[in-house]
Amino acid sequence: MTTTLITGANKGLGRETARRLVAAGHTVYVGARDPERGAAAADALGARFVQLDVTDDASVAAAVAAVEAGGGLDVLVNNAGIEVRSPQGTIIGAADLTAGVTREVFETNVFGLVRVTHAFLPLLDRSPAPVMVNISSGTASLTRAGKSYPGAAYSASKTAVNMLTVQYAKAFPRMRINAVEPGYTATDLNQHEGTQSVEQGADIIVRMSQLPPRRPHRRLLRRHRPRPLVAPPTRAPRGHEPNS
Ligand SMILES: NC(=O)c1ccc[n+]([C@@H]2O[C@H](COP(=O)([O-])OP(=O)(O)OC[C@H]3O[C@@H](n4cnc5c(N)ncnc54)[C@H](OP(=O)(O)O)[C@@H]3O)[C@@H](O)[C@H]2O)c1
Repeated sequence: MTTTLITGANKGLGRETARRLVAAGHTVYVGARDPERGAAAADALGARFVQLDVTDDASVAAAVAAVEAGGGLDVLVNNAGIEVRSPQGTIIGAADLTAGVTREVFETNVFGLVRVTHAFLPLLDRSPAPVMVNISSGTASLTRAGKSYPGAAYSASKTAVNMLTVQYAKAFPRMRINAVEPGYTATDLNQHEGTQSVEQGADIIVRMSQLPPRRPHRRLLRRHRPRPLVAPPTRAPRGHEPNS
């Protein structure tokens, strides 16, 4: 029996992932910061509820204790995420970016992911087949930056998620650790402007949560096109060796 924890699973992509993994036979913990909405979602899905605010040390520690008492953890899905908009509801670009907005976004999307991962690593380490799935975003791409989405803090936070995924995957080679890009999906995060359904967006999260041993590792996976997170080593042309 596989036990899976999904952070921010009371709605959106997290909830749809929980629904699908329950159907696949996982014991699923719906992690949610709001006990009423979290418990209601877990009840509706046939999952377990665990109160978990990724920005709060005490809440995360209590969640670890609850999941450990429930028998341990095999799969961690770091899904909780926010995008902070202006009071007018517009996306905040670099010109209007403040340290406060950046801190708020990073507190959930980056520090929250690290807080949860650090706290649950000992439980994952005890699993015979540990898996971690970090929810990244196409906006994290340095090569595609500036193509359309102007939000500076959100995209930078997801770039940080990609690098953290690489670092965790290097440090824990026994665990299958990947980042996924669900695609532009209609959820509260984007006022339901996304062009995909949550069913479509959750496809890659569900797939990577069920990754069998010795399958892709340390990669950024999109719905249809997997891309390595780590570029293969390249040889500099003669006379152009980097000097640092
Ligand atoms: N939608 C897209 O197009 C898209 C594309 C690429 C990546 N993503 C990523 O996918 C993930 C899920 O987003 P979504 O689109 O499903 O958005 P969503 O419907 O707004 O869901 C976000 C979830 O995160 C939870 N959350 C926020 N702050 C939290 C905290 N401090 N502690 C615990 N939970 C917290 C929310 O809980 P509350 O209900 O309490 O606020 C909610 O359950 C995010 O990481 C997002 O960045 C989304």
